[in-house]
Amino acid sequence: MKRVGLVGWRGMVGSVLMQRMQEENNFAGIEPVFFTTSQAGKPAPDFGKEAPPLKDARDIDELKAMDIIVTCQGGDYTNEVYGPLRQSGWNGYWIDAASALRMEDESVIVLDPVNRGVIDRALDAGQRDFIGGNCTVSLMLMGIGALFDHDLVEWISPMTYQAASGSGAKHMRELLDQMGALNGAVSDLLADPSSAILEIDRQVTSTMRSSEFPTENFGVPLAGSLIPWLDKPMPSGQSKEEWKAGAESNKILGRTDNPIPIDGTCVRVGAMRSHSQALTIKLRRDVPLADIEAMLREHSEWCEVVPNEQQASMEKLSPAYATGSLTVPVGRLRKLAMGGEYLNAFTVGDQLLWGAAEPLRRMLAILLE
Ligand code: HSE
Repeated sequence: MKRVGLVGWRGMVGSVLMQRMQEENNFAGIEPVFFTTSQAGKPAPDFGKEAPPLKDARDIDELKAMDIIVTCQGGDYTNEVYGPLRQSGWNGYWIDAASALRMEDESVIVLDPVNRGVIDRALDAGQRDFIGGNCTVSLMLMGIGALFDHDLVEWISPMTYQAASGSGAKHMRELLDQMGALNGAVSDLLADPSSAILEIDRQVTSTMRSSEFPTENFGVPLAGSLIPWLDKPMPSGQSKEEWKAGAESNKILGRTDNPIPIDGTCVRVGAMRSHSQALTIKLRRDVPLADIEAMLREHSEWCEVVPNEQQASMEKLSPAYATGSLTVPVGRLRKLAMGGEYLNAFTVGDQLLWGAAEPLRRMLAILLE
């Protein structure tokens, strides 16, 4: 049985991963060893499988004893430990949620329902670093991967509506604190049906602009507002999140030599843990909508094609529907006024499942096959 080192299992992505591994009975097929950055020697968590006391996640000798390491500990940890571990001669498989190694030539970005061929070729070639993709990219490809399979995509412009969870647990809490502060500022006025809405709005706006408003994590208000910049600036004028759309999608698809342009604007909105995106897709040819819908349905058991109808779109193309589910709804499918080669689409998916934990869990399962 393979010895699998688990690092960062207590954090948000790690917790979702542990939950999914329990649901899919993955612990039965491994010898789990839990690592910690702060509590070495304490008892291992109980996920239904015996495990030794927690090991120090910075102890290269302990890490070296693993056949596979799965880390959700974050990029700083990867940057600190990965190099010395490989330099020590360790030849195991490294599965990582962080972006630190994602674009390295030796790394494969894993999203097996979309790129199992790329993964298998990498395994055959002896590659050992398998990295989870950016959440928005993975969710887009889970939604419309079929169009790439059929070589129908000339370019895509994704406009995103990204949830607070993409920034981390503290940000999710801050979003709720902000919502609460806004509500608290006007609760008396809200309780009075005859109060003036413009007065409510004035007080809400002044609350979100006040120095008391909780913005320690986001830096600016998100509740009642939005943030049209995610991650660092790139020389291109893109935010790094926008840059990732093209760079990572093409790497996942194994076509960095012949990339498809994918570029748009990434926006943080006040959703909790599901990212949404509106896609403008330039097709290579005018394919009937019914054929496109059939391709999407056939491509993956997780893609749910939502008819382009008002009620269905409102109910299913939303974080409220997608959160907690592996289903990735895709809808608003219609040809744009620009012509039959211009396809509109809207998709949404749980940022912690297909966006983070699930591709890692499945990569581990592939290694255990
Ligand atoms: N960078 C993403 C976001 C999450 O900020 O929403 C991680 O892929």
